[in-house]
Amino acid sequence: MDLTALYKFSYGLYVIGVKHGDKLGGCIVDALVQASSDDPPTLILCSIKGNYTNELIKSSGAFSISVLPVTVDPFVVANFGFQSARVADKWANVPHTIVDGLPQIEGAASYVRCKVKDTVELATHSAFFSVVTDAVCGDGEPLIFGNYQKTMKKAAYDAFQKFKESGTPPARGDKWQCSVCGHVYEGDTPFEDLPGDWTCPLCGVGKDKFEKM
Ligand SMILES: Cc1cc2nc3c(=O)[nH]c(=O)nc-3n(C[C@H](O)[C@H](O)[C@H](O)COP(=O)(O)O)c2cc1C
Repeated sequence: MDLTALYKFSYGLYVIGVKHGDKLGGCIVDALVQASSDDPPTLILCSIKGNYTNELIKSSGAFSISVLPVTVDPFVVANFGFQSARVADKWANVPHTIVDGLPQIEGAASYVRCKVKDTVELATHSAFFSVVTDAVCGDGEPLIFGNYQKTMKKAAYDAFQKFKESGTPPARGDKWQCSVCGHVYEGDTPFEDLPGDWTCPLCGVGKDKFEKM
């Protein structure tokens, strides 16, 4: 069995936001599907049972969804997907707003808020059948899970490694995006000062294929 076959399903990648009392949490998910578009619009979120996000959703009964855009900084995936909010203040590391008491990242492709209606416990995950209570369409194209696996995963691991070493999230200076693969450059060296033979770390094209975001 080759489970990479599942990477070709057209999932997106999402930041779930959750709050219970003074506790903020959230994580990256791809296992989120639309079950019905009306009467009422319903989504199914599959959340790992041992995760803090799962615990906070069960306590609060609500969560937000920020749909990640193709231009997302790989650090956002690392921040929400590679560590637990039990031990890290994830939301302090990224620009965000609180809407109706729930955190959401700035610059998402769209935003949805949900209330949990039914929960089915699977072996490893809870399937939260959730009714959409609000939805806002933002700018930008959504990041597809399979494209994350192909073009962004390594950058996310590198960003997390750097974060662990320095203890600070990446500076939010100018960003440059590869027009071929979507990779976002946001390094310590200003893009203009990179050597002429510098190439995109993901797809290998030259500097001339990058556009300032
Ligand atoms: C690309 C990616 C996809 C993920 N998909 C899911 C998912 O669908 N459901 C889930 O519960 N966790 C998923 N995770 C794992 C959680 O994001 C991760 O375990 C996180 O650290 C949990 O943090 P928490 O303890 O603060 O909830 C995914 C992680 C990554 C990097």
